Amino acid sequence: AETKLIAPSILSADFSKLGEEIRKVEKGGADIIHLDVMDGRYVPNITIGPPVIESLRSITDLPFDAHLMIVEPERYVPDFIKAGCDMISFHMDACIHSHRLVDYIKSQNVKAGVVLNPSTPVNTLEEIIYYIDYVLIMSVNPGFGGQKFIPETLNKVKKLKKLMEETGRTDILIEIDGGININNIGDVSSAGVNIFVAGSSIFKAEDPAEMVRKLKEKALY
Ligand code: DX5
Ligand code: ZN
Repeated sequence: AETKLIAPSILSADFSKLGEEIRKVEKGGADIIHLDVMDGRYVPNITIGPPVIESLRSITDLPFDAHLMIVEPERYVPDFIKAGCDMISFHMDACIHSHRLVDYIKSQNVKAGVVLNPSTPVNTLEEIIYYIDYVLIMSVNPGFGGQKFIPETLNKVKKLKKLMEETGRTDILIEIDGGININNIGDVSSAGVNIFVAGSSIFKAEDPAEMVRKLKEKALY
């Protein structure tokens, strides 16, 4: 069967009780915890960094997926690895030597991903695709939770699938991030996405655990 994983983004959780919030989604069957790191430069917001991630590490055994929306990610990646991240993605336009950074992340036994903004074409992956473990496709502009899914993103997923086939990298996982909810996750899943990040649809739901369950059910069709 195809890989289909739900990755709640704690960006929309209650920051005064992150531990509890993580336990809730874990009960619902969450597969990965998505951590949105923003520096106020690459994106307008500032969120969390390695100390918060490190203190959450003891709360759960679920993999931690750090989405670095920061300039010069290479300066901080070692700290995120020390904090206990299992997957790290960064935006290639924020980094001068992306290949070196991908190499470094993998040398530390951490999965390496690169992120495409809505305006970034799939063909920017043509060379790095031979080295990465996953691609994170933004289906909103990075910086904020609770935005609306950009429907053209589905075409992009198809283009990426094609590039994966052409390059023999069909093992790469496709992650999507932004505006994912119970109404669109089915179509997004059919397009070939493997990892579904969802922030507000999960943490603003009455019962976040139940929402994780429902999202997973729809992702598996
Ligand atoms: C946006 C972040 C997303 C965000 C998704 O910059 O990368 O992970 O938390 O939130 P929703 O699911 O509310 O669009
Ligand atoms: Zn994210």
